[in-house]
Amino acid sequence: MSVKPVFVGQLPLDTENAFAADVVAGLTAKPKRLLPKYFYDLVGSALFERITQLPEYYPTRCEIGILRNNAPAIASLFPPGCALIEFGSGSSRKARILLGAAATVEAYLPVDISGDFLQQDVAALRRDFSRLAVYPLVADFTKTFDIPRPVAKLPRVGFFPGSTIGNFEHHEAAKFLRHAGEMLGAGAVFVVGVDLVKDPKILCPAYNDAEGVTAKFNLNLLARINRELGADFDLATFEHHAFYNVEQSRIEMHLASTKRQRVRVNGMTASFRAGETIHTENSYKYTIESFQALARGSGWSPLQSWSDGLFGVLAFSRDGD
Ligand code: SAH
Ligand code: AVI
Repeated sequence: MSVKPVFVGQLPLDTENAFAADVVAGLTAKPKRLLPKYFYDLVGSALFERITQLPEYYPTRCEIGILRNNAPAIASLFPPGCALIEFGSGSSRKARILLGAAATVEAYLPVDISGDFLQQDVAALRRDFSRLAVYPLVADFTKTFDIPRPVAKLPRVGFFPGSTIGNFEHHEAAKFLRHAGEMLGAGAVFVVGVDLVKDPKILCPAYNDAEGVTAKFNLNLLARINRELGADFDLATFEHHAFYNVEQSRIEMHLASTKRQRVRVNGMTASFRAGETIHTENSYKYTIESFQALARGSGWSPLQSWSDGLFGVLAFSRDGD
């Protein structure tokens, strides 16, 4: 049975116009860049799921292990009868672990920009957690979105796993944390998954897997621009590059043009020098302490943290509540 995501008190995303405008702005910028949120159309979300299964991509396995080992302790921080709001829920695999340990959660609101992908798991969630109200929301989590009225009065717990927060610049992460605090409101708890600074020998293979799935994920951004904006990127002339920038503690992903060329995109022409790159993603790595300092600056007090040395799950409460 197909279950459509609900659009409660909000319009469906004006994705096409925003996508076209952001792509044109990014390809006109110097150096060229594209926003990582656009990786996630149906194809991109499915490729990300494949990444999570790769032997080299440790973050998903580590975070799932931490959540499984500590689910009762994490769930004990939740206010009774709360709504669990997940930012960038993807397959909701990690929320299932918390929902299994937190019997008093009344509602689950998976929020994701990848609308077609989001709807795939909703029926199974409703079947497996029959007492839970599930409200999938197709939204950009950096913007304000409405909480469905039937669950708007419940105390709120935010969940932001996957180190998706690492895909923000530091100032954007701080802004997001403050905005999430305003949305989650008084008494809120926030559980955030953060990938930790570590040896590049572990980090680099996670973004350069032997099977080439991460390369496909990166290149799908150009394929998506071709599909949705009628562009003429020749994917065979762009290469996936991913490396660790030690000074910035971040993995950078780029798409490098293998030759001098011009590409037509939505009425404009983007010119590439041989070797010129489009910067498609940063994936910042934190220490537990550096992330807690960032969150403190955005109005969140550290409650507890759990780690296996590679990945951290950090819980916070709102200051002054
Ligand atoms: N939480 C999952 C998925 C992480 S991948 C996990 O931990 O495995 C990042 C997810 O965030 C994707 O599902 C993507 O579609 C979503 N996403 C990325 N940017 C977004 C944005 N600006 N607004 C809403 N969802 C976003
Ligand atoms: C979703 N995000 C945290 C992933 C990451 O590790 O930065 C996306 C990803 N990019 C390449 N591989 C995975």
